[in-house]
Amino acid sequence: MPRLALVTAIAAAALDDDLVPLLDACARAGIATQVRAWDDPSVAWSRFDAVLLRSPWDYTERLREFLDWCGRVSTRSQLLNPLPVIAWNTDKHYLAALAERGVPVVATRFVEPDMDPLPTLQAFLSAHPDAAEFVVKPAVGAGSRDAQRYSREQEFAAANHVARLLEADRSAMLQPYLASVDRDGETALLFFEGRFSHAIRKGPLLQRDEGPTEHLFAAEEITARIPGKDELALAENVLAAAAASLQLQSPLTYARVDLIRDDDGSPRLLELELCEPSLFFAHAAGSADRFAALLADTLRSSAPAI
Ligand SMILES: Nc1ncnc2c1ncn2[C@@H]1O[C@H](COP(=O)(O)OP(=O)(O)O)[C@@H](O)[C@H]1O
Ligand SMILES: [Mg+2]
Repeated sequence: MPRLALVTAIAAAALDDDLVPLLDACARAGIATQVRAWDDPSVAWSRFDAVLLRSPWDYTERLREFLDWCGRVSTRSQLLNPLPVIAWNTDKHYLAALAERGVPVVATRFVEPDMDPLPTLQAFLSAHPDAAEFVVKPAVGAGSRDAQRYSREQEFAAANHVARLLEADRSAMLQPYLASVDRDGETALLFFEGRFSHAIRKGPLLQRDEGPTEHLFAAEEITARIPGKDELALAENVLAAAAASLQLQSPLTYARVDLIRDDDGSPRLLELELCEPSLFFAHAAGSADRFAALLADTLRSSAPAI
């Protein structure tokens, strides 16, 4: 039986709702699967035939350490997330690369550590006169941590937020707040081996006048959703653009495309998750088994011949 490690973080294992359904589905698919934390130094990764990132959600403040760890693991086992994909996708600057390829991403201004927060923010606000509210968040972030929504009048508080991120040597992002999320939520489309599997609706996560979440990730309100034709088409385009950017030769084990509609009603890319997406198995019957069957195929085809 092939041996697979699902990678979480010591701080995240109890929060990942996908782990139990995935363990059960892998058992049914004939894969001996164990959950291990990336930051557990006692794990012998070479004892696994393959390693799949699932919920290493605390990498955001330890990115260098995490990427080094990924590099080491890939010399000891088959890391199913390709290293170039991990390096690219753990930093939301990838949105700029996708925008260059014509993907409609949520309008984003990156603020780099050597930039002056307040003038940059003021220039951003002038460029977006229609945005009643905007978002400040880190370029390396997950779980809505360090993300906050501001009104135009809160320019100084927002500039302080940006300054705090820059002082910690993190890049920040400014985006208009897409208000449709308050009514329609965000649509996340899940793809397994390049094929659409299912979609969910995620309720809005940033409340007015509320600071960033103090948890590893903000509590999410999830329901099943049938994506619009335009959303499905955009998600396919996003995956094609990512594959072109990364020069990928084969489809990704999983991918999640998160979209919010802009004020004109057109879907825009908020996030492409290739490293640690929640897959929301509980909201799509049979999805964990479908995913495990694909994993079993991958492990069989990469097993050394005896
Ligand atoms: N520009 C935006 N407009 C509306 N909501 C946003 C915007 N940016 C972030 N959000 C809200 O904050 C949440 C977290 O932001 P996201 O970009 O997905 O980062 P991450 O999930 O990696 O922390 C989103 O799910 C959404 O609810
Ligand atoms: Mg997100």
